[in-house]
Amino acid sequence: MKALIAAGGHATRLRPITWTTNKHLIPLAGKPMLWHVIDKIVAAGITDIIINVNPGEVESMRTVFGDGSIWNASISYLEQTGGAKGVAHVVANAESQLRGHKFLFFLGDNIILGSINTFVDRFTNEGLDCMLAFSHVKDPQRFGVPEFNADGTLKRILEKPCEPPSSFAVTGIYLYNEDYFDAFSQINPSSRGEYEISDINTWYIEQGKKVGWEEITGWWKDTGTPDALVEGNALVLDCLATDQFVIEGTIEEGAQIQGEVSIGKGTRVTADSLVRGPVTIGENCLISASYIGPYTSIGNDVKVINSELEHSVVFSGATIDTTERICNSLIGLNATLVDARRTHPKTAHRLIVGDNSFVEL
Ligand code: DAU
Repeated sequence: MKALIAAGGHATRLRPITWTTNKHLIPLAGKPMLWHVIDKIVAAGITDIIINVNPGEVESMRTVFGDGSIWNASISYLEQTGGAKGVAHVVANAESQLRGHKFLFFLGDNIILGSINTFVDRFTNEGLDCMLAFSHVKDPQRFGVPEFNADGTLKRILEKPCEPPSSFAVTGIYLYNEDYFDAFSQINPSSRGEYEISDINTWYIEQGKKVGWEEITGWWKDTGTPDALVEGNALVLDCLATDQFVIEGTIEEGAQIQGEVSIGKGTRVTADSLVRGPVTIGENCLISASYIGPYTSIGNDVKVINSELEHSVVFSGATIDTTERICNSLIGLNATLVDARRTHPKTAHRLIVGDNSFVEL
């Protein structure tokens, strides 16, 4: 079996971060989002992996994930020809690689805790044509939603329905046989101009194909919004094994390190700081006279001075030098946060805010 990961698209809900960073490279618990996805796929025994990327992004992705040898797997990269035409188009674009195979299709912004092994095993052992994973959510109208017949069998899948027929979301983890390509040839773009994966799934159901489904009872998240990303970071941190937290940097005498904390090479935590895990801090950072609270992930080359930070994701190169407490935040590459009281007028906020930014004052 092969696996195809969707890692293209424009991720407009995560702007301004995604103006410069592909959403799938956003760090969660110190590793790019897609890293966690590849971990799950390889753990399920699938080692032939194709990553779908936007035109022009092959090299930046390859720099991060390489040829897959880190996982004893083979990773190849495929540009989505013609741009982001919808989730269903991602698979059609990879037809020459997938023809003749059963395959796992994984939307790269879906993060789950727990394994996909039984999901994959059921598909194989029961000889299914298509297998879907559902999860109960509070806002099904944001997702593909299954509708059931009175006897409990699947009737169809509706994409982002205004009036959802159930409280299930169809998660972005699918298994298909090669009938997929017949299905794709028979669907049309939706009113938002995209080839919808829900139309493919409905095709399988309406054609009487063997469609199985399973409920994900553990945690699943589509990290499409800033809040979901910060929450995703927290939950991945919570579930990291203890041996994943390693202290390689310098902790000055008097600095307090509590709970599970990872500190990269070349990073210095000064005597007057407190780091309370779960927290990951990258390489060559300075944490000075600051509090780093639970569920925070910090990239490389970051300076945190005289500040308090909690439940946030800080990208590489950022400087946070303010006496304020920062919570539930995403701080982008090389961003700078300073104390307003250092310049005149002291009560004013001076902002250089990029397009599509969100600032709460
Ligand atoms: O997360 C589950 C949901 O994912 C499902 O419930 C929906 O049925 C399915 O349509 C999809 O909805 P989203 O609105 O979340 O899809 P989004 O446009 O965010 O794209 C999902 C992933 O696929 C994301 O990792 C980006 C990637 N992608 C997206 C498009 C449109 C591509 O690689 N190429 C594309 O053309």
